[in-house]
Order: sequence, then C-alpha cells, then structure tokens
Amino acid sequence: MTTPSFSDEELRTAIARELPGVRADLERLARIPGIAFEGFDFTPLERSAEAVAELLRGLGLQTQIARIGDGHPAVIGVKPAPPGAPTVLLYAHHDVQPVGDLSRWESDPFEPVERDGRLYGRGCADDKAGIMAHVAALRAFGCGTADDRVPVGVVVFVEGEEEFGSASLPDLLEAHKDTLSSDVIVIADSGNWDIGVPALTTSLRGIVNLFVEVKVLKQAVHSGMAGGATPDALMTIARLLATLHDDNGDVAVDGLVSTSAAPLDYPEDRFREETGILDGVELIGTGRIVERLWTKPAISVLAIDAPPTAGAPNAVIPTAKAKISVRLAPGDDRRRAYATLKAHLEKHAPWGARVTVSFEHDGDPIVIEATGPAYDAARSAFKAAWDGTEPVDIGVGGSIPFIATFKEAFPDAAVLVTGVEDPFSKAHGPNESLHLGEFEKVCLAEAMLLRNVAAL
Ligand code: BES
Ligand code: MN
Repeated sequence: MTTPSFSDEELRTAIARELPGVRADLERLARIPGIAFEGFDFTPLERSAEAVAELLRGLGLQTQIARIGDGHPAVIGVKPAPPGAPTVLLYAHHDVQPVGDLSRWESDPFEPVERDGRLYGRGCADDKAGIMAHVAALRAFGCGTADDRVPVGVVVFVEGEEEFGSASLPDLLEAHKDTLSSDVIVIADSGNWDIGVPALTTSLRGIVNLFVEVKVLKQAVHSGMAGGATPDALMTIARLLATLHDDNGDVAVDGLVSTSAAPLDYPEDRFREETGILDGVELIGTGRIVERLWTKPAISVLAIDAPPTAGAPNAVIPTAKAKISVRLAPGDDRRRAYATLKAHLEKHAPWGARVTVSFEHDGDPIVIEATGPAYDAARSAFKAAWDGTEPVDIGVGGSIPFIATFKEAFPDAAVLVTGVEDPFSKAHGPNESLHLGEFEKVCLAEAMLLRNVAAL
C-alpha cells in the first residue's frame, strides 16, 4: 500500500474535530425542503442539489449536477484513486419525504433543533445525515486540503428523487456509468439495529405504489332517496380494500413471494414500543416478526380521497380513490407484483363497481450476499467504532430502489448498506430525528471503513 495508514485513534480524533462543522452543514441542508413528490414545488430540490455540490466542491471533488430529462437533480463528485487503491462509491439522497400533518410536529420540520441528544427535523436522519456521514469521513482524511490523505478513489453520488421512486435513476446510471464505476459502494441510507448496536443491512424489500379508484354513480345523490339500493363509493372501496388481507392480517393477494429471515429475535414488546402501537391493538400477520417486516409482503393503505366529514351532505358519494403501498419480499419482481395487484383489485370489484388501477412508482427488493473482504473490512470498522460491539446483519422492511439498479449495472461491486437511523428516528413520520451520539459513530465507522478498504 502506498498511502499512509491511520490508526483508530487518529480517525477518532479527526472525526471529533470535524463534527461541529459537519453538524452545522447538516442543519443547513435540513433547512431546504426538497421534496420530489408530484404536486410539490421542485425549486428547493435545485437549491438542495446546489448545497450538496458546494460541499463536494469544498472537498476538492470534481463535481457536477446530473439529471435526465425532467428528472430531479443528482450530484456526482469524483476524486481519482491513489495508484493501486480501490474506488469507493458513496451513496445518499438529498430529497426528503413530505412532512404530513404539520400539527403533529413538535417543532418546525425545516428548522432543525436539538432535544435530548437528538436533532429533530425532516431529513435530519433520512437522508441528509447520510450525505454528511460521507462528507465527515472524507474530511477526517483532510480531503481537499493541502494534507489530503484520502486512501481510496471516491465517487460521491447523491440522488434527488429517492423518496419518489427514483424514476430517472436507471437512465442516470447508464449515462454516467463510467464515472460511477467502483469496487465498493457504501449506501448510507439504512440504519442500525439499536442504539449502541451497529448493523449491516443485507436485505431490503421492494415496493409497488399504486392507486385504485372506485366509481359507482354518475354523481352524488340524496342518501335517503338512493340509500338502500345504491352502493356508496366509500363502502365499496372499504370492501375492496378489505380483500387485501385475511382475518389474521396476512396479505391475501395470491402470487406474491414470501421467504424466511435470519434467525434474529425481535421481541414483540420491543417492536410495540419502538413502533408506538397502542395497548390492546393486535399485531397483524403471522410468523416471526422479522419475517413479517423483512421477508413477507405487506400492504398498507396510505390515503383515501373522500369528502371530509365536516360539512358532508346527506348524499351517497359516487367515487373514491385510495393510495396503496405494497412491500415486496426479496425474490419478488415489481412488474409481476403490480400486474398481480391490478388483477386482484379488478377481480374483487364489489357490486360491479368500476375499478381503475393506476401505477405510481416501484422498486425491486434485494438480498446481499455479505461475505468477502469488503464486508469483513466493514464489520471490523463497525466493531471498532462501536467500541467492540459486533455488528449484526439485519434486513429492513423499507426499500432503496437504487441498490437493485446499481447491482444490475455493476454486478461485481461489493454493496455495503449502512446508515444513521436507529429504532427511534421516525423517518417519514412527524418528529423525525437523528441520534447525535450514534451519528458520530456512523461517521467514524465510515472513515475506518475507507481506511480498511484501501488496504484490501
Ligand atoms: N431510507 C429509506 C429506506 C429504509 C427504510 C432503510 C427503513 C431502512 C429502514 C428510504 O429513503 C426510503 O424510505 N425509501 C422509500 C423508497 C420508495 C419511495 C421507492 C421507501 O421505502 O418508502
Ligand atoms: Mn432514505
């Protein structure tokens, strides 16, 4: 190896030195409400891409903002490898989820604030802290300074539409294939098993989001005059949605894949506590909890368009529309799953109602065979950063469509899925937050990982 190696202690000191600046930059990013969902103002995504590009330029990376057609801006920063060293691609995303019901937030989602060792705000964890973990690790090596000792080649790739299904990603990868080509890829967009217990994510579910619209009448009619002989659209859609699960709460759509999960125990009381399920409310589905969450399909109804109760007239309503999110087990296929769902919904139309199914976005599931030198390098970095605690291999129920797409383009790269989330991060919900103590460990682990990978 031609590059000087860093000791654990040197990296620990370097990360501690960089942390205040990294925190300030994280807060700056978190103030930008970049949301790629349909119907939102997309100009903040431009600002957010520009802010990320500025961070990468500050590291001396050859930086560009990349997009395909009317897709949202991704940021790519490149630093060539020292002779003989491998190249590592560092992935994160700068777009965030919508905030949902604002009244549920204890503070402004786009004004990050610290409470009890956590930084609260939309994107403070998912995934602006992922971006900053990459920046922190590079700064620890003096990246872009006169004393630049980054031991590997680096490609930073920060996507701008991950939360809305990464529609332009396959074309983006194709267009920048040479630039993005790498030996190892670190995807900082998942999380750890618990506070104090690091994890490598080795399986993620796929996703298919779709809409179903039910029509029963040409227009609303007097509920006294027509009720009793006319189905209403809400009752009709409720019946249709009810066909998606059996009485146990298992998915009742034929043809979706289920597999088994690692023998990791996720005690029911821990799950209930972390998720906030109310006392007395039963869990749904059957089988071990990790299987229900990671390796079986799940269907959730995310939203229904219906008249608000306030001011609703006594009328039978003609149409209703629901947004459905289907999580796919590893081994399933997003296109086949959509066709299966569509057929199920059309076939189960109650009372001859007109049912129209339409597609929103999707992503394939992935399982990673996490063995070999890069995974060993990652595990030993995690163990050192968490003061001797061994990392566990976990699955997650969420989805990162980039991984399957990237794997297809670069089948030989080792994919390491890391991240800043912990069981209390509340990503996608109100009061999302980052555990600042764990964040420091994530940054340190990534620096150690880059050092370890350089020595492979
Ligand atoms: N960071 C999440 C993925 C994730 C979720 C990792 C839970 C670990 C635990 C990611 O940003 C995300 O939420 N993805 C979307 C993808 C979808 C819109 C295609 C998701 O899972 O809903
Ligand atoms: Mn994310």
